[in-house]
Amino acid sequence: MKATIIGGGGRVGSNAAICLQCAGIVSEIQILDANQDLADGEALDLLHGASSLHDQRIYAGDYDRAKDSDIFIITAGLRRKPDESRLDLINRNVGLFSQILQSIKSAGMKDDAIVFVVSNPVDILTHLAVSYLGLPQSQVIGLGTMLDTARFRSLIADGLNLAPTQVKALILGEHGDTMFPVWSSATVGGLPLSGVKGCDVNFQREVFSRTQKSGSEVISRKGGAGWAVGATIAETVHAIALDKKQMLPISSLQTGSYGLKDVCISTPTIVGRKGAEKHIEIDLWPKEVQGLQASARALKDMLKNVAGV
Ligand SMILES: NC(=O)c1ccc[n+]([C@@H]2O[C@H](COP(=O)([O-])OP(=O)(O)OC[C@H]3O[C@@H](n4cnc5c(N)ncnc54)[C@H](O)[C@@H]3O)[C@@H](O)[C@H]2O)c1
Repeated sequence: MKATIIGGGGRVGSNAAICLQCAGIVSEIQILDANQDLADGEALDLLHGASSLHDQRIYAGDYDRAKDSDIFIITAGLRRKPDESRLDLINRNVGLFSQILQSIKSAGMKDDAIVFVVSNPVDILTHLAVSYLGLPQSQVIGLGTMLDTARFRSLIADGLNLAPTQVKALILGEHGDTMFPVWSSATVGGLPLSGVKGCDVNFQREVFSRTQKSGSEVISRKGGAGWAVGATIAETVHAIALDKKQMLPISSLQTGSYGLKDVCISTPTIVGRKGAEKHIEIDLWPKEVQGLQASARALKDMLKNVAGV
């Protein structure tokens, strides 16, 4: 599988590249960036490590060389300022994003290629990509609440002294201010998390609040998120490459589950070689369904103000 990372010279794109390289599942990684020197430098640095890691082709390229990609990972964009909401980024990022979609389309792409949006505001830009590219809707996905979910699980595990990979708890909705935690299905090692000593209402409130503020906290301390987002991008790419049918909280165009339509948002989604293959509607608490619907309303309000969607 060939993965092209557009914006691959930046922090998120380069961190995704090293995660894809360390895992050794994709066979080809192309770094594409408006800053050619940066793309060349990152690709060269990754290439230097190939002999210690995996037999992959790694290089800096362009849209023409990208046209046989199996997956386009779009991480190009302007970073959020510490006090800026993701949706405030919208007008700054939409123009840049539209140019990238145009470049992909005019160079050409494989019929079954997946377009994977990471740049923020991710749900809005995923919608823009669905509208513009005219691909089957399953082939356009966004990172959605994958990173929020990873942060949530890791912080729960850290706070309760549990193994991070054994904690299963979801954040759904918008990747942004209206995302919400799903406590109804939270487990550790297959048993309800609510039974674990210390996982009381106060802990739950605090750990979700810390998760919500994680993006801003990382931006203000180190300039931008990188490693964890790289890990979740790789997790999603591997679900596609290996046709895992993994249930992930990615963002995709909704077609009716939980009563949601015409909006790209994170709901439980089966991810395989065709991208967002199926939305799974499993019972949630009524307040969680309301949270999902409120998130969808917020995104639809925002969509009304975006030209070209
Ligand atoms: N969805 C998520 O969970 C999530 C998490 C973290 C960051 N992000 C988003 O990822 C994006 C990138 O963040 P970053 O920290 O890597 O920023 P960065 O500034 O480090 O990197 C952005 C890169 O994009 C490149 N670029 C800009 N315009 C381009 C274009 N037209 N074509 C190709 N490349 C172009 C820049 O040269 C730069 O290398 C931002 O939109 C950020 O908000 C999303």
